[in-house]
Amino acid sequence: MHKKLERNDPCWCGSGKKYKACHMRMDEKIRSFALEGHIVPDHSMIKTKEQIDGIRESGKINIAVLDYVAEHIRPGMSTAEIDRLVEEKTRACDAVPAPLGYEGFPKSVCTSINDQVCHGIPSEDVILQEGDIVNVDVSTIYKGYFSDSSRMFIIDSTTPEREKLVRVAKECMEAGIREVKPWQFLGDMADAVNSHAKENGYSVVVDIGGHGVGLEFHEDPFVSYVAPKGTEMLMVPGMVFTIEPMVNAGSADVYVDESDDWTIYTEDGQPSAQWEVTVAVTEDGYEILAY
Ligand code: MF3
Ligand code: CO
Repeated sequence: MHKKLERNDPCWCGSGKKYKACHMRMDEKIRSFALEGHIVPDHSMIKTKEQIDGIRESGKINIAVLDYVAEHIRPGMSTAEIDRLVEEKTRACDAVPAPLGYEGFPKSVCTSINDQVCHGIPSEDVILQEGDIVNVDVSTIYKGYFSDSSRMFIIDSTTPEREKLVRVAKECMEAGIREVKPWQFLGDMADAVNSHAKENGYSVVVDIGGHGVGLEFHEDPFVSYVAPKGTEMLMVPGMVFTIEPMVNAGSADVYVDESDDWTIYTEDGQPSAQWEVTVAVTEDGYEILAY
């Protein structure tokens, strides 16, 4: 049993402040949304300032690793070389690549090319060619804190169609970020993402989404990018999650490669693009913790 927290009890967040001077008003507000039938976060999804500080430090390394990849990526390079770059830079920052060994994932980063949607495994056999579009998805553990972000790279130059897909996928993520505000819903963010994709004739993957992140690699909530406005979980200051829509040039249908059990492909073989940030919900909007 747990006893109801009284006004003068220490707050559940561990700040040492009295509940009434800390999270009490926020909890009351959350409860009022729950009573209206909305999905609301529980305390485990609301990070303290110290935790967000830790995730921000992890995120700085994640950004540095992606910047390092950006400096070195070039045609003729294998995706295994990208994996080595990520491993090298992450270790140089005294951090650990989160993908390595995660549920059996064999490498330190995901590299997904052209019609690969996500979770591609770096390989000596996959050589970047002019015209390829590749997502490099980096996740870092630093002092126990997790961050996660990914970017698209165009190898030299590509077709106008692929270039547009990469640009629009980024705009979709940015449109989602702009809707991150406390006391709005994850569905508001999702609707902004999905509308922008649809306006451009693209589709957003339904079966794979984003996630809470920070103390673990993948935390609740599941973050959809195809939900209607006003649905899904209420956003509350202190929540930290990823915005990482996968945007397909063709249909939203995807399948898993049965030979490696990881790589996700578009069903119709058309290209897919993805950008990802880790964001925190603040008192008046958002903060990007990893890009
Ligand atoms: N970075 C991916 C994400 O955005 C997670 C990949 S899991 C892994 O959620 F094991 F493949 F790394
Ligand atoms: Co992620």
